[in-house]
Amino acid sequence: MTFPTDENVIVGLDRADDAGVYRINDDLALIQTVDFFTPIVDDPYWFGQIAAANALSDVYAMGGTPKTAMNLVGFPLGEMDISILRAIIQGGLDKISEAGVVLVGGHSVEDKELKYGLSVTGFIHPERVLTKKNLEKGDRLILTKPLGTGIVNTAIKGGLASPDVIERVTHLMARLNREPAEIMDRYRVHACTDITGFGLLGHLAEMVLDSGYGIRLESGKIPFISEAREYAQMGFVPAGAYRNREFRASMTSFQPSVDRFLQDLLFDPQTSGGLLISLSEKDAPDLLDALKSGGVPDAVIIGDVIAHRGEKIFVE
Ligand code: CO
Ligand code: CO
Ligand code: CO
Repeated sequence: MTFPTDENVIVGLDRADDAGVYRINDDLALIQTVDFFTPIVDDPYWFGQIAAANALSDVYAMGGTPKTAMNLVGFPLGEMDISILRAIIQGGLDKISEAGVVLVGGHSVEDKELKYGLSVTGFIHPERVLTKKNLEKGDRLILTKPLGTGIVNTAIKGGLASPDVIERVTHLMARLNREPAEIMDRYRVHACTDITGFGLLGHLAEMVLDSGYGIRLESGKIPFISEAREYAQMGFVPAGAYRNREFRASMTSFQPSVDRFLQDLLFDPQTSGGLLISLSEKDAPDLLDALKSGGVPDAVIIGDVIAHRGEKIFVE
């Protein structure tokens, strides 16, 4: 397929990134993104919050500020009580408001399966756009949320998770990436993306591809929801993690010390995961401190960009 081009498209379809970016003038560009999915938690209000946080995240991952949002709804009218839809939309609205974004419209269709999400529009300075590309040698990689939501959600579906874990993972997925985005805006960040369906290694693979560099990942430093290890050992690893591994197997190399659980965790598809930020070795400790004291306590340096190693990811 060929797509029409326009000189004002800064990020378009030709380079799958978190969102599209269109230059309006020398000082302003528009960020546009859309995301919706079927319920991942039982509570409709929290599902609305998570779906909204997830959709808003792609604007944050580009380094931008979300401004307006529109609801996208698929609902099985007649089969499901309308109060469920109201709760979902209220959850989304509360999350949108928390982000300082205004809801300006939306569209709903009758659908066999319930679906909810948002289209989001944001602003950014055309020269401050953070794509997935642009890693520099020696960069440090910072991750802002723990991993394991895919494994834990699989255990929840299997009826195995305790109410306490359910609450923790729900709040984690509903947490906005607004704070880390606002804090990183004060630093010279080279590249950024958010961790979603491809898992940490899948998204890292997109960053390192065509960079001419390699990545060294310290698996022992990766934060995760502590129950995930036990759940994974019981077999609650989502199918997506295996697909992600298969897709990027040739780009990743694990030291023998990296056990099977850590490997699965690194490929675990995340819902509304954290930001993955690449910046210089010199600036990374300052940004990390600012994140930790600025409401992003889970932020951690997980690896670095190394000299030419065949655009591979080496997990130690
Ligand atoms: Co994204
Ligand atoms: Co997305
Ligand atoms: Co980005």
